[in-house]
Amino acid sequence: MVSQIALLAGDGIGIEIMAEAEKLLRALDIKGLSLIHADCGGTAYHKHGHPLPKATLDIAKNSDAILFGAVGDPSCDNLDRHLRPEQAVLGLRSELGLFANLRPAKMMSGMEGSSSLRANISQNIDMLIVRELNGDVYFGEKGMRQTDTGLRQGYDIMSYDEDEVRRIAHVGFKAAQGRQGKLCSVDKANVLETSQLWRDVVIEVAAEYPDVELSHMYVDNAAMQMVKAPGQFDVILTGNLFGDILSDLASMCVGSIGLLASASLSQGRLGLYEPIHGSAPDIAGQQIANPLAMILSTAMMFRHSLDNEEIAAKIEQAVAKTLADNILGRDLGGLASTSEIGDAVIARL
Ligand code: NAI
Ligand code: MG
Repeated sequence: MVSQIALLAGDGIGIEIMAEAEKLLRALDIKGLSLIHADCGGTAYHKHGHPLPKATLDIAKNSDAILFGAVGDPSCDNLDRHLRPEQAVLGLRSELGLFANLRPAKMMSGMEGSSSLRANISQNIDMLIVRELNGDVYFGEKGMRQTDTGLRQGYDIMSYDEDEVRRIAHVGFKAAQGRQGKLCSVDKANVLETSQLWRDVVIEVAAEYPDVELSHMYVDNAAMQMVKAPGQFDVILTGNLFGDILSDLASMCVGSIGLLASASLSQGRLGLYEPIHGSAPDIAGQQIANPLAMILSTAMMFRHSLDNEEIAAKIEQAVAKTLADNILGRDLGGLASTSEIGDAVIARL
């Protein structure tokens, strides 16, 4: 059986880190894997006039998994919102029904010194953020209008229906069952109606998972707890906006945003795998981006879309060895270039 993998590098450092993921896939030399490139983000806008051309969407839909680099080309900053590079990733998430975003943040052995936290606080971080990805304020009605008194007013509507909360809650509880059995649901139920519904539905779903210990936390407290005692978290279940913010916070607890991978899953087998960071225009084209988040996303692809735990573990172990051997990019205080890091991982497979 042939599995088709779509490689959507995007723009900025997306291009450089995708080159390393592709190099790794070719080095693994797995039978029945076909790789196909497609443009998206700023690159696609400049070539085809749209950040997510239909041809790219079709390739994504017809693949078994999508590896996604990053988008965010600043030369597109002044375009209408629907033409901006970020629409590529938002469009893929909604068109492909990618509602479940898994973002693991684990302290790798020997990396405690790179955390923004003191080593005694960061040493035992091992959490999984389960972020809802198809709803919330990102997909609600939005616009600009004038108030009665003539002031400019921007608005973005935040909403969740109970089915959206239920299906992500099941993902969170199942993930907790395969880990330490603890799930912390993060919301702002003291202020937001969407959060009240979120909490009610999560409590309903919890009845089906008596073996999982459920707790609730307001998002402001969760941000504080994450830097105070991050070791307390196992699975964090949360909405789109809170999950976006908390996962960047989690990344600095374990060392660098350049280490955090993610999986975006649908009801079926198709998944999209990408680093949690953006296209980092400030360092693009310099070969100093850390490709490990992209490479670890590739490992997640083998685990979740290709049912190949063996290869997933092999890649993760090679990454751990690379770090343990002190082959570090600038983000972690080292000097290794993007491609040197990619080569080092391949050498340790
Ligand atoms: P960013 O994640 O691109 O960069 C934040 C900071 O982290 C920068 O200083 C950057 O140099 C650094 N950084 C990020 N990835 C790194 C890596 N692999 N190695 C070393 N350093 C790394 O976020 P920012 O600057 O807020 O956004 C830049 C553009 O990316 C924006 O247009 C934004 O909308 C877009 N973006 C796209 C995402 C995606 O494609 N899924 C996600 C987040 C942002
Ligand atoms: Mg983000």
